Amino acid sequence: MRADAQAQPNIALIKYWGKRDIDENLPAAGSLSVTLDSLWTRMSVEFSDALRGDELVVNAASDEKMLPRISACLDRVAGTDRPRASIESKGNFPIAAGLASSASAFAALVVAASTAAGQESNTLSLARIAGAASGSAARSLFGGFVELQAGDTNIDVETIAEAGDWPLTVVIAITEEGVKPVGSGEAMNRSAASSPFYSSWLEQQPADLQSARDAVLQKDFARLAAVAEHNCLKMHSVMWASRPPIVYWNIATLSCMEAVRRLQNEGHAVFFTIDAGPQLKAICLPDEARLVRSALDNCAGVVRTMVSGLGAGATLLEST
Ligand code: PMV
Repeated sequence: MRADAQAQPNIALIKYWGKRDIDENLPAAGSLSVTLDSLWTRMSVEFSDALRGDELVVNAASDEKMLPRISACLDRVAGTDRPRASIESKGNFPIAAGLASSASAFAALVVAASTAAGQESNTLSLARIAGAASGSAARSLFGGFVELQAGDTNIDVETIAEAGDWPLTVVIAITEEGVKPVGSGEAMNRSAASSPFYSSWLEQQPADLQSARDAVLQKDFARLAAVAEHNCLKMHSVMWASRPPIVYWNIATLSCMEAVRRLQNEGHAVFFTIDAGPQLKAICLPDEARLVRSALDNCAGVVRTMVSGLGAGATLLEST
């Protein structure tokens, strides 16, 4: 009746930005990400007939705001007639700040909940349930380089290369620790409804996805760098042109971009990506990580940096 699971956030290199179906939370296009290893969320789920309602504790504090999304996800795993649940979440990085905390949270949640409910589920079906709660969460069920394909009525998700096949390093520059002003779900719906660039963004996704997939399979760093940066900047251009505009960057985000450009101009293998928040993620070959980290640490406005390799998909830790 109780199970604990862990998942790591993932960083999209080809972004998910826009939904085909808002109610089912189905993405309008595919995406490709890397799952990290040193950032984590642990979720513990215990079903009990003695509880009168679901209870959620995040990092030792009760969380009423997130509870409806968590409860809806548990309903999808165990049915609406399930016993109520006590859910506890812990993580080692900032929440809701553009570091994909919802991805690792929902990925860990579905693994813990299905085990606590006594089910034997396969990873893809759990990824689909996690994806209904947070589109990017579907990818954190899998490790390494992960591709999500968006079908008309469902998603498919798979690892296209293992973490060990091409062990890249991700250096994260935290430029602000607060919660972001607009959540990604609301922001992408606003982009779809009002950005003049949204339709061309979607049109170009299949080609970007294919280019990134080929680059990963051939371990072609320069090709992956070019398509991933272009894809990230296109996504943010869509946001900037939305009404009202959505700008997640701050001055420090831009200094970090400039630092990455400087390293590239000196011939170093590094590129950046930025999600729905002001943090910059620099992806590099492992032997460049020290230099990249120190360059980002020296950017004005960077609060701290974190380094991660690539890791595994969501895993069950314990069940009783
Ligand atoms: O999964 P959501 O609803 O938090 O949206 C994720 C959006 C981005 O992080 C900006 C892109 C992505 O593919 O992860």
